[in-house]
Amino acid sequence: MSLIDAARNVRENAYAPYSNFKVGAALKTASGKVFVGVNVENVAYPEGTCAEAGAIAAMIAAGETEFVEAAVIADSPKPVPPCGGCRQKLTEFASQSARLTMATTAGTTQEMAVSDLLPGAFDAGYMENT
Ligand code: THU
Repeated sequence: MSLIDAARNVRENAYAPYSNFKVGAALKTASGKVFVGVNVENVAYPEGTCAEAGAIAAMIAAGETEFVEAAVIADSPKPVPPCGGCRQKLTEFASQSARLTMATTAGTTQEMAVSDLLPGAFDAGYMENT
């Protein structure tokens, strides 16, 4: 199964009764394992979490810390990009050459390097004086 199909399938389980915008995400690690996540909303709106965060949590809980490929999908007019916070979260765990495929449920896809997601990203180098 392609990574997009894994994200497409898990998206069905998204809990998005407030936005009605279901998102699915999938990460593949170098070992070939796939971890998936969905957005989980809450009646206290700011407490909701994104699909990418769920997939990252599943990967970390399984004992892995780096993905080589990511996919995210939603029923959007254009391939859905990760939000700003998720760009920072994905950057933390991406291999140097990790690729991201963004997709619509209708089948349009767009691919990019995860390293291009967040120009000027805050990283551990900025904490060297501490
Ligand atoms: N959402 C994600 O899960 N990932 C994204 O990359 C964009 C936005 C979710 C958050 C919220 O539950 C819904 O989509 C609408 O913003």
